[in-house]
Amino acid sequence: MSLAARTPLPEHRCETQADRLIAGTGIELYKQFKAVRSRSMRLAAPLSSEDRVVQSMPDASPTKWHLAHTTWFFETFLLVPHAPRYTVFDASYGYLFNSYYEALGERHPRPQRGLLTRPSSDAVEAYRDYVDHHMQVLLEQHFSVELEALLRLGIAHEEQHQELLLMDALHLFSQSPVKPAYDPAWALPAAGRRAAYVRHVGGLFRIGTDAAPFAFDNERPVHPEWVGEFQIADRLVTNGEWLAFMEDGGYRRAELWLSDGWALVKAQRWDAPLYWQRADLQAALQAALQAALQADSRPGSQPGSPHAPRPGWQEMTLRGLQPLDPERPVTHVSYYEAAAYAHWAGARLPTEAEWEVAARAGNLEQVDDVAWQWTQSAYLGYPGFRATADAIGEYNGKFMIGQMVLRGGANITSPGHSRAGYRNFFKPEQRWMESGVRLARDVTPQGATDDDSAEFARHVQAGLASTPKALSPKYFYDANGSAIFEEICATPEYYPTRAETALLGEIVGELDAYIGANATLVEFGSGASEKTRIILDRCTQIDAYVPVDISTTALEQAVARLKSAYPALRVLPLAGDFTQPLASPLPLSGAPRTGFFPGSTIGNFTYGEGVALLRAARNWLGSGSHMIVGVDIVKDTDTLLAAYDDALGVTARFNKNLLVRINREAGGEFDLDTFEHAARWNAALNRIEMHLVSKVNQIVRVGGRSFGFEQGESIHTENSHKFTVASFGEMANAAGWTVARHWVSDAPAFAVFVLRDA
Ligand code: SAH
Ligand code: AVI
Repeated sequence: MSLAARTPLPEHRCETQADRLIAGTGIELYKQFKAVRSRSMRLAAPLSSEDRVVQSMPDASPTKWHLAHTTWFFETFLLVPHAPRYTVFDASYGYLFNSYYEALGERHPRPQRGLLTRPSSDAVEAYRDYVDHHMQVLLEQHFSVELEALLRLGIAHEEQHQELLLMDALHLFSQSPVKPAYDPAWALPAAGRRAAYVRHVGGLFRIGTDAAPFAFDNERPVHPEWVGEFQIADRLVTNGEWLAFMEDGGYRRAELWLSDGWALVKAQRWDAPLYWQRADLQAALQAALQAALQADSRPGSQPGSPHAPRPGWQEMTLRGLQPLDPERPVTHVSYYEAAAYAHWAGARLPTEAEWEVAARAGNLEQVDDVAWQWTQSAYLGYPGFRATADAIGEYNGKFMIGQMVLRGGANITSPGHSRAGYRNFFKPEQRWMESGVRLARDVTPQGATDDDSAEFARHVQAGLASTPKALSPKYFYDANGSAIFEEICATPEYYPTRAETALLGEIVGELDAYIGANATLVEFGSGASEKTRIILDRCTQIDAYVPVDISTTALEQAVARLKSAYPALRVLPLAGDFTQPLASPLPLSGAPRTGFFPGSTIGNFTYGEGVALLRAARNWLGSGSHMIVGVDIVKDTDTLLAAYDDALGVTARFNKNLLVRINREAGGEFDLDTFEHAARWNAALNRIEMHLVSKVNQIVRVGGRSFGFEQGESIHTENSHKFTVASFGEMANAAGWTVARHWVSDAPAFAVFVLRDA
């Protein structure tokens, strides 16, 4: 078709005039449209005409094709059906630039896009201008709700092609022996600290993105999904960590790989991420190039000296070939590599629901600015997903087979394009996209992960090296320790359990008033969850129970018992340390929450720690919540000391079990007979202190280090602060709680407080 036959270009209008004509949402969208269109041209600008034509592999497309195809999309889905009397720019473009829409007819084969030397780059730019002008007229004169939806899709579509344009340019340049930089100032993802795992509570979560203002059809419908308790890395795997995998034979050990992945490793000779290359290889290449140039050189030219080979790896980036930074995230790995790495690291990839829950909770870093992150979820439609029956329905739905979901956004993602519910997808063998790795782990019923044990060993070393020697009482509660604690509760001397149980029984009718309909009860340090039953029996409005405990065995046993005793109750356990940031959102958002913190466990913390803990609990439970706290009251020293040094020596066994645990889990060589249990009243600080006192001068080796003990020197293992009504009220207030009510039992005195948020 000749240019003359096309719809005439509208008369030139200045932008402000056009902007005035498109009302409200239309103006905003039109601005977005113009911005996205000009961004594509800006992204293409560093590329020469030659760069724009070549197709480096069947999966990639030439820049010129991207620029034309995104324009064809607006022409085909907006202008042709909605712009009165619109004439297509060139009838052959429907064949050339249709990507994969069967409903729109035949098209040029994808692997041959690089053969399209015609239309020229200039013609494609003229096409863009033509369509942009007609889009402006359409939006000025016929803006509608239907058009808005199509326009948003067209914008998001072009943003996706902007990512592809960069991916494809990088792939092209990576093939070049001179390794051109797309942009020598391209901002690479920052190096940074390595990942830590955060724990997330399980539960029923809303997954997906609402349609407004825009979501791709594959992100909808929003639907509930059950997610079990899990751990997820807060950052991505680094190059340095990947190097360790490689050095440990990662690419040579079949047992780490999925079968199809292992076949690819062998067939493709994969031994590193796609864009890594050995620095000495590149140096040899440079030397060869220099030699060729020298042989060719005109008189007077100054050939540079060949680069000295450098050990290690380099990485091809949009900035050109760069030395590999071990602290930067690893990118351009296939699903198979990501899965093998996770296997090697004793972890797994997150499911997409886990990823979304963690991302929405705001606890992940490197979410949308580094690399898309592989999930272990196959790319499928959500329950209730239906692709529309028209050509637009081909956008996503027909690709829901044989691909895996990646979440987040990448360094090459257009601003504002990604969302927590955004689903990217690629085939498991592909690696030219900017893909990265975020790990996840199950929270096993057995509890301690390797990391937990390593952390315990580190804390033991630090605690024994400090003066005075001290350890956190949270380490009492391995499986044995939790069982011995239950024995303590049954000793005649340990009055707090009996006193609190009796008091709770008396006041539970009054506590009931503070627990709302369908409430979630969250217990801190739930142990055997025995006292909980007093509340559950009476307060039947409680819909869900979230026991939080560091002792996974105690938790697991308590949960099994509770589930059979209260079949209608939702029991959602959370294994973890409640003094650490409570990273996970509470499940069942919207339900009123009541905290329960019995046993005077708050007494095991110093004033500052206690305030911080109560404040964190308040934030976690949310506004308007209540918290029921059991608090032991200061009383005569004899009663106190006897409670922590019972005649049968149960508490002594509890204390010494810590040495047993150190010997087992932290490489300790403690001789238990050379230590004795001591309970002391510290009157100045109103607390019982438990110590393990060395009976002799000795040196004890722990984890390969030696620690000296003088006779009488101790490891301080626990504080158990005792309160007055006023002193606990003051602590609660400092944490932002108001005391709504309190009760104190007869002697031996024990108190229960109801705290109210604000
Ligand atoms: N609530 C029960 C158990 C109290 S014993 C009762 O009143 O009888 C203290 C409980 O807190 C133990 O089960 C122990 O495993 C748990 N615990 C101690 N420190 C913890 C921590 N930092 N994070 C999570 N749980 C902890
Ligand atoms: C869990 N905590 C409140 C108990 C206490 O009383 O400090 C632990 C304990 N230590 C010795 N006996 C019981």
